[in-house]
Amino acid sequence: MLPETIEWIGDVPLLKLLDQRKIPFSVEFRECRTYEETADAIEDMTVRGAPAIGVVAAYGIVLAAREDMMKIDDAFLRLSATRPTAVNLFWSLERMRSVYKNSMGAHDICAILESEAEKIKEEDIEINRRIGKNGAALLPDKAAVITHCNAGALATAGYGTALGVFRAARRSGKELKIFADETRPRFQGGRLTAFELCEDGFDVTVICDSMAPFLMSREKIDAVITGADRIALNGDTANKIGTYGLAVAAYRHSIPFYIAAPLSTIDFNCPDGTMIPIEERNHSEVRRIGNELIVHEAAKVWNPAFDVTPAELIMAIITEDGIFAPAEIKKLKI
Ligand code: MRU
Repeated sequence: MLPETIEWIGDVPLLKLLDQRKIPFSVEFRECRTYEETADAIEDMTVRGAPAIGVVAAYGIVLAAREDMMKIDDAFLRLSATRPTAVNLFWSLERMRSVYKNSMGAHDICAILESEAEKIKEEDIEINRRIGKNGAALLPDKAAVITHCNAGALATAGYGTALGVFRAARRSGKELKIFADETRPRFQGGRLTAFELCEDGFDVTVICDSMAPFLMSREKIDAVITGADRIALNGDTANKIGTYGLAVAAYRHSIPFYIAAPLSTIDFNCPDGTMIPIEERNHSEVRRIGNELIVHEAAKVWNPAFDVTPAELIMAIITEDGIFAPAEIKKLKI
């Protein structure tokens, strides 16, 4: 059974997070009692995945408020400095900030903030179910699909975006064969997606990232579906490094490439992919596997955590409100 990713225990208060750095070797939980601990957990990837980061940051604000209302401005600053690419983080903090401003002076401000964080979490699961239902309609009754990184229950409050599409497709009676890219350098596909899908009884095959184009040339693949960390107004989409290459390969083999993401992943202030901030992480993620050094110490390393897939390679973006061509994204701006 799949353990819960994010659990809020309000009467302590504490935030209990599944430690995703340890999966699949062990199922352990980390308890965050302060906003600083929450920010550390986002930064060190105890919790990861755009929607999950957003939910956790909202609870970080609640922890700051419960500890000392004077800490709340610091908490907004610290939490927004954790990871730069996933826009859901900033979307969620903005939502918490506006509730905070509107309830200033209220005697039950902590309870108001707590209820907003709970809402963000519950809405995320509900939204993912709608994304899943919309996306499932795109798959044939017997489908072979490829996904990258982990856009599942582990990356969200539950159910997942890309993996939510697979869950909904299976529920509607479709038969799936899922290929999961291992996703260098942190192996979110090999460690997390394979764990999540196996625990839920899916047929999953792990491949190295470099194998996907060859797989496409040898087997009938019906679709590639990934999540997203930020979608620009023109439909360019940032997701885990390797997604762009996968989209290029899908295009070469005339395989539809879909992004499954909530509307909160669209950055309506970002005109195109060149404006998306790309997180660069520590070189040791590439230089080492676990504690083992695999690259000559004198070699330089470049480690962008995300890449940008140009809109023209994306067949459609699956959201909770429907399926849109990348060119339609700008029309969704309110
Ligand atoms: O660095 P990570 O593991 O946070 O990257 C996660 C991804 O790239 C996911 O595909 C994305 O956040 C969507 S999760 C529904």
